[in-house]
Amino acid sequence: MFVLRCMECGKEYHRRAMIYQCPDCSGLLEVVFDLSEVELTREELKKRPFNLWRYRELMPVEEGTRVVSLSEGGTPLYSAKALAEELGLRELYVKNEGANPTGSFKDRGMTVGVTKALELGASAVGCASTGNTSASLAAYAARAGIRCLVLLPAGKIAIGKLAQALLHGAQVVGIRANFDVALRLVRELCTKHNIYLLNSINPWRLEGQKSEAFEIADQLGFSSPDRVVVPVGNCGNISAIWKGFKEFHQLGLVDELPSMVGVQAEGASPLVKAFRAGKSRVEPEREPETIATAIRIGAPVNAPKALRALRESGGIAESVTDEEIIEAQKLLARKLGIGVEPASAASVAGLKKLLEYGEIDRDERVVCVTTGHALKDPEIIFSRYEKPVEIEPTMEALERVVMG
Ligand code: F0G
Repeated sequence: MFVLRCMECGKEYHRRAMIYQCPDCSGLLEVVFDLSEVELTREELKKRPFNLWRYRELMPVEEGTRVVSLSEGGTPLYSAKALAEELGLRELYVKNEGANPTGSFKDRGMTVGVTKALELGASAVGCASTGNTSASLAAYAARAGIRCLVLLPAGKIAIGKLAQALLHGAQVVGIRANFDVALRLVRELCTKHNIYLLNSINPWRLEGQKSEAFEIADQLGFSSPDRVVVPVGNCGNISAIWKGFKEFHQLGLVDELPSMVGVQAEGASPLVKAFRAGKSRVEPEREPETIATAIRIGAPVNAPKALRALRESGGIAESVTDEEIIEAQKLLARKLGIGVEPASAASVAGLKKLLEYGEIDRDERVVCVTTGHALKDPEIIFSRYEKPVEIEPTMEALERVVMG
């Protein structure tokens, strides 16, 4: 079974408690499984369909619960030879989370989060979002048949994500402020009006996301890579992935643990600064800015968990410029055929930089997680890439542009 535990004071709470933070000390909560009760072998796992629910024993849902699912997870782990050669690395893989039902890793969190919402009797869910969380929550709330409210920083949401939230029928409210302010507001609203909050402060959501680690290990033949490189915003995903690897390790399903690498955009890099300064808390940035709007976050709520993941795994935190992000997006798209949104490309941009600095060895086995699909943010492509040419319908005009 499993309980909720405060990562600061260690106090434990019943799994049915409707709380997001420790009522005693406001510390972040985490889900703790009694792994001695879990029996999972590689042979047994291999027999099951390859999606998130392959790891059901490690997902915190009660017996007999109806799972709200869109068949999430089971995303490809691409071998990235051409990119590895370009970067001068021995072995590189890309875990492409854009292949999830709504086009981002958030679906892993929402299948568990919305399932928990129903278990706990919620009839409405809400979140603040830089876009993907809202797109995913809107879809899963629709599937569950419950109301969904999303609060977004007005004008700073990639158009594909906004379209998804509208499409699935969420109530979409834009606020004239950044994500951090939106999150503060929605947290207060949810508490006041009994709406179930599904930002990554919600510990159940991260349980779904830890399946990224299970799948990576599974796809590498039940082994861990040397490094897992993850784009970081609110610091939930990197923490979840690390938790997943630790659980697989404790269960004897992998022999080694990877080292975690968190990559932020330079204009929104509070985690990187705190990590470099050896702090256990981040100093919030009041005006975060980057073209990678998904990770345009100045006050990441899960920073203590991410800092712990970096420390425990002997990890690294690095920041990259918007130009480096676009360059990496182009590499993924043109060397590998993998289309990702800018935030996702931060992982590859960070890897490139850390190889150049000699912080990552060229003979390591590395997995970069790409978190969201290219079509989430088509505007970035129109503004940063070549424009299409338009011609008169004659062979002469056509030959002129095609043949030079
Ligand atoms: N990559 C993408 C594409 C994201 O959408 C996010 C977060 C991250 C990386 C960072 O993950 O927050 O767990 O560190 N997007 C959130 C949202 C904040 O609202 O969609 P994190």
